[in-house]
Amino acid sequence: MTPTSLAATIRERVARIETMPSIPAVFVPLLELLNLPPERVKLDDVVKLVSYDNTIAAQCLRMAGSPLFGLAKSPETIRAAMITLGLRRVETILLTCCLSNAFPAKAGGLDPVVFWRHSLGCAMVCRKFSEKLAAADSDKAYMAGLLHDIGILVNCIAFPNELSVAMAHATTEQIPIDEAEHATMGFSHCETGRELAEKWHLADDMVQVIAHHHAPERSRAAQPLVALVHLSDLLCRMRGMGYGYYERRRVDWVSNPAWEILLKEHRELDGVDLVRFTFELDEAIGEVFALVSSIFGGSAARN
Ligand SMILES: [Fe+2]
Ligand SMILES: [Fe+2]
Repeated sequence: MTPTSLAATIRERVARIETMPSIPAVFVPLLELLNLPPERVKLDDVVKLVSYDNTIAAQCLRMAGSPLFGLAKSPETIRAAMITLGLRRVETILLTCCLSNAFPAKAGGLDPVVFWRHSLGCAMVCRKFSEKLAAADSDKAYMAGLLHDIGILVNCIAFPNELSVAMAHATTEQIPIDEAEHATMGFSHCETGRELAEKWHLADDMVQVIAHHHAPERSRAAQPLVALVHLSDLLCRMRGMGYGYYERRRVDWVSNPAWEILLKEHRELDGVDLVRFTFELDEAIGEVFALVSSIFGGSAARN
C-alpha cells in the first residue's frame, strides 16, 4: 500500500468508529467538557452527564471508592465524589468508564482487561511521577497516561485482523507492540490514535502524547509530558502490566532520551533516588491490579 492510500484507509476506518453503537451517549459531550478550562465547567453539568447512564454512574462510583483515590469512605453520589476528588479527576474516571464500555469483547488478539490494566496503570504511574515534579499538572498527566494507547483501541475496532497478526508477531519475537505493528501492518497505534485524537478535537498536548509516546524526541510540543508518559509506559510494561506477553527488553532510564528531555525541564529530578522512586511506583501498580480486577474481572496474572 502506498503511503497516501494507507493514510486514506486509516482515515476512512477511523471515521466509521463514531457510529459504533457501544460508545455511550455521554462520551462526546464529556470530551467537550474536558476541553474547557476548569473554571468554565459547571459541577451540575458533570453530575447530569454521569446520571444519564446508570451503568456508567455505578462504575464511576466504584472506581472513585477504590484505594487508588485515597478516600476514607466510598462516595455515595457523583456529587459527593466530585467534591472530594475534584472535578478533573471525576471527569477522567468518567472517561475511563466510557472508553472501557466502548472496547469490544476481545478483538485483535488483545484481552480488554489487559488493555485497561495497562492504560489505567500507566495513568496512575504518570500521576505519581508528575507529583514528583515541581509545577507539573498531575491530572493532565493522568489523562495522558489513560489515553496514550487509544490507537490500540482503534486498531482493535478498525483493523482487528491486522492487529491479531501484529500481536502474534510481538509475542513470538518478544518485541514492543509498536515495532510489531510497523513490521506487519506498516503503521502503528500511534498513527491511528492520532487520527482519532484529531477527529475528537483533543487538546494538542494529548495529540502529541498519543502520536509520539514511543519516540518523545519527535514530538513538536509538550515534550516533557510525552517523555513522562514514555517512561511510565515502559515501567508498566517492565513490571508485568504490558499487553499480555513477555517483552525482551532492558530498561535503563538514565540513558533513555526521554529521561534527558525530562531532566532538561525538571532539574529537581537530578537528585531523585531512582531505585526508591520505582519502588514507590511498584506499590501503585499493585493497587491498579486490584482495581482493574474489581472493575473488569479477569485474572490477576502479570505480563
Ligand atoms: Fe503505545
Ligand atoms: Fe502503552
